[in-house]
Parts: sequence; structure tokens; C-alpha cells
Amino acid sequence: MTVRVGLIGAGIMGADHARIIATQIPGARLQSVCDADPARARAVAEETGASVGPGGPAAVIRSASVDAVLIASPDSTHADLTLEAIAARKPVLCEKPLAPASPDCLRVIGAEVKAGKRLVQVGFMRRFDPAYVEMKAALVRGMIGRPLMFHCFHRNVAAPSFFDSKMAITNSAPHEFDIARWMLDAEFEHIDVFRPQTDDPARPGAPVFMVLRTSAGQLVNIEVNVNAAYGYDVRGELVGEKGSVSLRAPVNSEVSLNLASTTVYPQDWRPRFAEAYRRQNQAWINSIAAGRPAGASAWDGYMATLVAEAGVSALASGSSTTVKPVAMPQPYQPAA
Ligand SMILES: NC(=O)c1ccc[n+]([C@@H]2O[C@H](COP(=O)([O-])OP(=O)(O)OC[C@H]3O[C@@H](n4cnc5c(N)ncnc54)[C@H](O)[C@@H]3O)[C@@H](O)[C@H]2O)c1
Repeated sequence: MTVRVGLIGAGIMGADHARIIATQIPGARLQSVCDADPARARAVAEETGASVGPGGPAAVIRSASVDAVLIASPDSTHADLTLEAIAARKPVLCEKPLAPASPDCLRVIGAEVKAGKRLVQVGFMRRFDPAYVEMKAALVRGMIGRPLMFHCFHRNVAAPSFFDSKMAITNSAPHEFDIARWMLDAEFEHIDVFRPQTDDPARPGAPVFMVLRTSAGQLVNIEVNVNAAYGYDVRGELVGEKGSVSLRAPVNSEVSLNLASTTVYPQDWRPRFAEAYRRQNQAWINSIAAGRPAGASAWDGYMATLVAEAGVSALASGSSTTVKPVAMPQPYQPAA
């Protein structure tokens, strides 16, 4: 079975997904590409051998020659496009976040529950990253004992001027919220958000430092620093009662020179998480063929957005904010 994929959004992430689907995923074919900017769609289609989907996203989603939909357009478009895919009863891999606002995530959940079938996978690709997978395996094997604390660092070289502290919480941190929920198998109950004193406190994109407490009493701290200057750098250390596990980013070489050894940081997330994107997309295609969902669900997408909303409130109020989810619908509950 070959799954014919329709891609919506051919920007930085969409072009990356297009290359992965077209060249690295057995069982998948990139069928058509569309973008609000036709030149981008054409460039990606030419590079990958796909066709340009005429008629815009809705036509691509409904097309009889498209079996599954990959959404990589801006955050604000995700919920409505995912709802279109559910209405067409097509599996959809939606880039994170599922939606910037939790009521929109709930609309997706409601539609999926009504469809009676899990169709949505959210692009929280860190669940497929070898370093996080090994960390989780060490935890599950009991190597470090009961988990107590998870230290998370998310650093970018530089963010655009519109990327403020609120966006650091709603756009960057959801990766951290999701991976910590997945790693600890627990929900967040409270979040506090702090900002360090900087030379220019009004500067958008100043770092945010979050402290969260889970339902099992674990503490998670998350630094999001989108203007870290030195490189793209995601770190994590999971501390248990008997030991700790730290992430190692992939390193291919190390230069020894002048009494120093040097490794290189990537410019952005694509090299750091290349294997995670590939494994995520392969798992998505395999899950369609097998009829068994994989990866983060619409519920996981909702929870990440809900924690981000609580984080934005905590940033504004300067006080601890409670995360208050609705009751989890049955299809998302773990099997008894
Ligand atoms: N998983 C990850 O690690 C990761 C990393 C970066 C970005 N993202 C997510 O991927 C998505 C895309 O981010 P990006 O960095 O590629 O942005 P981008 O701006 O480079 O690309 C977005 C593209 O979508 C197009 N577009 C806008 N509205 C559209 C619409 N209604 N229909 C079709 N196309 C439309 C734009 O013309 C643009 O080409 C965002 O939701 C972002 O949060 C995820």
C-alpha cells in the first residue's frame, strides 16, 4: 500500500517534510503540495516530483488522489484544516501546535470523537528522537529510580522581532510541555513563569523560565531562550532518586586544535531533529497502513496548548496558575 500525501504549507517546515516524505519514507508518496504563495508550492513540487494542488488546501484535502494530509502552514490555520481532514475522514499529521487556543483544540477533539476514529497525529516529533527515546527507556527500566525533576532548555540563535515572551510560551515551549508529559507519564497541575532582568526589559524575546509541578509531585523547569545567539541547543536532564539521564545531541565530528576540542551547534532545529522528523513521519505512514494511531494525539495537542495558556496567564499575573483540563474523552484514555 502506498499512502499518497497532500502537503499544505511549503515554507521551512513544509519543504523539510516534503523532502522527507519524497525521499526517506517507504510506503509514502508526496502527491500534491499547496501553499498560499504559489511560487513556494511550485518550488517544492518541482524539487520532489509532486504536483501543485490546484484549488487550495480544501481541494487538496478532498482530492480523491490524496489519502492523508500533512499540515505545515502557520499555527492559526491548523485547527480548521485539521477539521477539514477529519470531515473527509483522512488521517492528518498536523504540525504543532494543534491550535494556539484550547477551545479550537476541543473543536478538533469533538470532531474526532464524532468521527469515531483517531485520525489526528500532532507533530510533537521529539517523542521519536533517539535521545529522548533512550531517556524514557532508562526510566521505564527503573535505572534511575523514581523521577523527581526534569530540567529542560530550549535555545534558538535568534528570533524574529515579533517573537515575544508570550510566543516563546505558546510556540516554542509546547515541545517541552509535550515531551515532559510523555516522559513522566503525568499531567501538569501548576505553572509559574519568570523572566530574568535584562539590559532592556521591554525587548521582545527575552528569556522565559518556567517551573511546573505534575500531578505526581515532580518538578519540571523549562528555559526558553529564543535569542541565545550561540546556536540551536536543546538540552534535558531527567533526575531520579538513583541517578540521572542527560540528552546528547547528535554530533558527527569533533575538531581538536590548539589545546581545545570543538563541536558545532546547528543553526536551527532541522539538523538536530532530522532523525526525529524521519521516524515521526515513518511512524505516521506505518500507522495509517496498520490502522493503529501513533505519536501525539489531539488530546496531547490540547494539553500542550492548555499548559501554554496557563503559562501566558502566569506570565501576565506573576503568580502560580492552575492547569484545568476538561474530562478526557474515552477514545484518548489509556487501555485498561
Ligand atoms: N515540529 C517542529 O519542530 C517545528 C519547527 C518549526 C515550525 N513548526 C511549525 O510548522 C508550521 C510552519 O512553520 P514554518 O517555520 O515552516 O513557517 P513558514 O512561514 O516558513 O511556512 C508557512 C507556509 O505556509 C504558507 N501558508 C500560510 N497560510 C496558508 C494557508 N492557509 N494554506 C496553505 N499555506 C499557507 C505560507 O505561505 C508559508 O509558505 C508552524 O505551525 C510551526 O509552528 C514546527
